[in-house]
Amino acid sequence: MKLHHIIEAQQFNSSTLLYIFDTAFEMEHVVAHGGTVEFQKRIMATLFYEPSTRTRFSFETAMHRLGGRVISTENAGEFSSVAKGETLEDTVQILNGYADVIVIRHYEVGAAKRASAISKAPIINAGDGAGQHPTQALLDLYTIRKEIGAIDGLKIAMVGDLAQGRTVRSLTYLLSKYQDIKIYFVAPTLLKMKEDILEHLRERNIWYTEETDLDKVLPEVDVVYQTRIQKERFGDRIADYEKCRGVYVIDRHTLSLMKEKSIIMHPLPRLDEISMEVDSDPRAAYFRQAQNGLYVRMALLSAVFS
Ligand code: CP
Repeated sequence: MKLHHIIEAQQFNSSTLLYIFDTAFEMEHVVAHGGTVEFQKRIMATLFYEPSTRTRFSFETAMHRLGGRVISTENAGEFSSVAKGETLEDTVQILNGYADVIVIRHYEVGAAKRASAISKAPIINAGDGAGQHPTQALLDLYTIRKEIGAIDGLKIAMVGDLAQGRTVRSLTYLLSKYQDIKIYFVAPTLLKMKEDILEHLRERNIWYTEETDLDKVLPEVDVVYQTRIQKERFGDRIADYEKCRGVYVIDRHTLSLMKEKSIIMHPLPRLDEISMEVDSDPRAAYFRQAQNGLYVRMALLSAVFS
């Protein structure tokens, strides 16, 4: 399986997803046995215009574990010539002369697609504003498959900042490729899931509902996918942010309403939307989910370089 640019969740079909999940599972063993030197002559550039902990570190760890090398700027806006006014296109053009793959996080929707239009080296979208985060969605699905055992027939509640959340957008696109999925979108009125995603689900006859009451859906679902209310996406709409923050908090009460075999996921970082008292419950899957990011990104890099 050969992958080139990884830009949006819609580009993956069922057989590619299966290949990625199988390879990610093999990568768990590769990591356990100390890595490989398969890609020792390959170089990955990480170009991040927005902050990150998991995505950048897991991509860079993935490349090191595969035996490759990394060049990086964790704050491209400040520490690259973007600070002098260089365009994304010019920066990517230059990196094409140095790196074999370029991982980009940017604050503008469509930035990775713009980069891919002029880049011979594969571009991997590590999050483009409120657009998409396809590699996060892949690790989310991998986690669901590992924890629940299957994706077909899944009932999932996506909770929180659905209007501005790129992870829930990408995850919904991927879930729509499976059978008998039920999606419960739980959000404050100001942060409801966008119409383009709902239309996509209607076109594919995927069951969904929109709710404001989280307690009502908790006994129904296999997965509670909590998200952070993203202050940085509100701009000067501080009053709107204040209205939305703290509306949904996962705590002991939440656990008491959830199924025994269900799980809680979160792309992280979290603020106060999951209480720390939940961390020790076996249903708290979010740290295992972040760990899976390493294996899935190793699988993706491996497919890019194959
Ligand atoms: N889930 C995620 O994208 O986390 P980071 O912002 O820390 O990369």
